[in-house]
Amino acid sequence: MTKCLTAGRPAGFAVALPCSFTYLDPPMSAPLDQSVRLRRLRATAGIRAMLGETVVEPRHLIQPLFVTEGDVAEPVGSLPGVSRIPLAQLGAKCAELLALGIHGVALFPKVDPARKTAEGAEALNPSNLAYRAIREVKAKSPGTVIFADIALDPYTTHGHDGILNAAGTDVDNDRTVEALVKMSVFTAQAGADFVAPSDMMDGRVQAIRKGLDAAGHTGTGILAYSAKFASAFYGPFRDAVGSARKVGEAPISKATYQMNPANRREAAREAILDAEEGADLLMVKPAGAYLDIIRDLRESTNLPIAAYQVSGEYAQLHAAAEKGWLDLRATRDESLLAIRRAGADVILSYFAEAYARDFAARR
Ligand code: PBG
Repeated sequence: MTKCLTAGRPAGFAVALPCSFTYLDPPMSAPLDQSVRLRRLRATAGIRAMLGETVVEPRHLIQPLFVTEGDVAEPVGSLPGVSRIPLAQLGAKCAELLALGIHGVALFPKVDPARKTAEGAEALNPSNLAYRAIREVKAKSPGTVIFADIALDPYTTHGHDGILNAAGTDVDNDRTVEALVKMSVFTAQAGADFVAPSDMMDGRVQAIRKGLDAAGHTGTGILAYSAKFASAFYGPFRDAVGSARKVGEAPISKATYQMNPANRREAAREAILDAEEGADLLMVKPAGAYLDIIRDLRESTNLPIAAYQVSGEYAQLHAAAEKGWLDLRATRDESLLAIRRAGADVILSYFAEAYARDFAARR
């Protein structure tokens, strides 16, 4: 029996043999007609390292830090590896982070419940824990860049970010903004580099900018939490600062001021407004479930963009790793990479320090 070897083979790959040979057809071994092969760019560790498009370096990370009045560090149960830090240890912690290449910290006070009131007046006490913490960091680690949270939730008995209206049914936007402006001036006086309004009241960025300038703090910047969503991923944070509802109580709803997770166009409106009102950086929060929002803002503004990988994002990876279901380091690194790839310049993350330690060890 005769059979031509070229039959059924792509042109160019045929073996030229006389058609009179009798033979068994060998298993198909000729290559596909595929000249573009992307796997060539993934073939070795060296090629992959050379062509990586996105990097996460410690300089891209901001470490959120919880501060306590107490003398000993207080581990936060729902945030493995995270503790509230005593004021006296805060400067050393920031210096340590700086040595690891982490320039920025975001400070959050755990306020003594006895100091909380419905209107959160402790926020305007010039010697409150938050302002003392800023002074402490500036004194002990002057190179650290301080982002100070501006919102009333650590100070209010109800845990809302603002002052409530007379009926107690909603936050009073304009009275809250008034308090936030004063809080921002105290924060700038204490020495913070950036105030970071996380409250989502309307008009607060413009009011804060004017208030800071009028008080002579033209050099203090504003990191605006522009697209902050009413997210269920904030749970462990509320444990850390003590603004969570007690067991059995319905979880707090901040839906009249924080954004609906369904809304993408509205996030763009918030960001445009904050930029017009004078924000220096814009933030998206949470990060991992909102990568599309980060990408949208990246493409519509030239302002630097921050993303907050929030407490619940951190906790879920730890919880799965504890069960042996996920590799903590690998998922941590991948989650941070994805946030940078989406377009964030800087990432607030509870993983910052651990990431930087591993980064240093890999060098
Ligand atoms: C409050 C504030 C929250 C976070 C940062 N600032 C919680 C909230 O809005 O209730 C959350 C951060 C996190 O979950 O890590 N102004």
